[in-house]
Amino acid sequence: MASSSSSVLPLLLFSSLLLLSLPLFEAQQPPIVRGLSWTFYRSSCPNVEKIVRDHLKDVFRRDITQAAGLLRIHFHDCFVRGCDGSVLLDGSEQEAPPNLSLRKEAFRIINDLRAKVHQACGRVVSCADIVAIAARDSVELSGGPKYRVPLGRKDGQHIVTLDETLRNLPPFFGNTSTVLGFFTAKNLDLTDLVALSGGHTIGVGHCSAIVDRLYPIQDPIMERNYADRLKTLCPFPNSTEGSFPLDLRSPNRFDNKYYVDLMNRQSLFRSDQDLYTDTRTKPIVEKYAVDEKAFLDQFVASMVKMGQISVLTGGEGEIRANCSVRNNPVRMPEDGDHDELIRTLVSESSDGDEIEEDGMSAAF
Ligand SMILES: *[C@@H]1O[C@H](CO)[C@@H](O)[C@H](O)[C@H]1NC(C)=O
Ligand SMILES: *[C@@H]1O[C@H](CO)[C@@H](O)[C@H](O)[C@H]1NC(C)=O
Ligand SMILES: *[C@@H]1O[C@H](CO)[C@@H](O)[C@H](O)[C@H]1NC(C)=O
Ligand SMILES: *[C@@H]1O[C@H](CO)[C@@H](O)[C@H](O)[C@H]1NC(C)=O
Repeated sequence: MASSSSSVLPLLLFSSLLLLSLPLFEAQQPPIVRGLSWTFYRSSCPNVEKIVRDHLKDVFRRDITQAAGLLRIHFHDCFVRGCDGSVLLDGSEQEAPPNLSLRKEAFRIINDLRAKVHQACGRVVSCADIVAIAARDSVELSGGPKYRVPLGRKDGQHIVTLDETLRNLPPFFGNTSTVLGFFTAKNLDLTDLVALSGGHTIGVGHCSAIVDRLYPIQDPIMERNYADRLKTLCPFPNSTEGSFPLDLRSPNRFDNKYYVDLMNRQSLFRSDQDLYTDTRTKPIVEKYAVDEKAFLDQFVASMVKMGQISVLTGGEGEIRANCSVRNNPVRMPEDGDHDELIRTLVSESSDGDEIEEDGMSAAF
């Protein structure tokens, strides 16, 4: 006994020294918040992850660009009022101005997944969890890392106002200090910012988000030939339509080339490019550009962390029967009238006219 306990102490000392001397870029696994678990649906819906995966494999076989849209929905969901699926509600964040709008097709995919999962298991899996699983699979099925997501989120019952959306989503034209402010407000740090920005290894941006770096004068930081290509795509200061990959080198593959783009000054958004200008984030960009594993490990850790922002668990929230609408819309005195107004506006404007997606126009 005595000898075994005395050998424990040096071991503990040794491992705490190891912790202290961990290299700067070692990804730390975030803690799991109370109410979420790795095995949440083990008995109530053991196949949920397989159902989602199989359906997404089908979807991506036809169109791999849907992966970026699904990843982006999860970012938006988590940044605005926490990962509670409110991004999916008709009349919520998705109705933000066109420059922030999310892909309609991604919402359709989430609702299809919801229908399949509920058909197999009943109404036990939240839309917020389906979004988190779909984002994870979008990463992996695009060639990125495999990772597990803690589950057990509940769906929120509040429609999110446009104003709240704009106050929470980092703008694509912001510099690192500005964007970092949005991250620290969610308890995400500088490393999370650089790693999660790497999600721009897939997806596209539209001219509306690019032209202010081209006209009236070209952003001097942007590499010249790259700027010329963008000008061909977006010939006028008022160009909006054209789209361009966020990662020039491997547009649909989840890898570390996004950081190589930054070092070559070939990135679309100012919020991305500034990560290589800002002296605090530059070394992290340089590290990820040469060490893909360091990036992927940190991306996973940061995604798990982000995926737990202000989640509803246990008896909070609900499990929506339809991801687009609340089960029993609660009429809150302070937001009820606003909800009704938005609902009316949406139903009036939603007959047939598709809102085109606008790429990754918010920084995330
Ligand atoms: C989005 O566009 C609207 C006008 O269409 C503008 O008022 C708003 O500032 C823009 N927001 C961002 C984040 O670019
Ligand atoms: C970042 O942008 C903000 C808002 O435009 C500005 O006040 C600040 O000076 C900028 N910081 C740097 C380092 O450029
Ligand atoms: C955009 O600008 C071009 C050139 O100045 C002009 O010809 C065109 O009419 C403008 N388009 C819109 C939609 O304003
Ligand atoms: C979900 O709700 C939306 C919005 O009310 C509706 O258009 C859609 O048909 C519903 N989906 C299902 C499967 O009921």
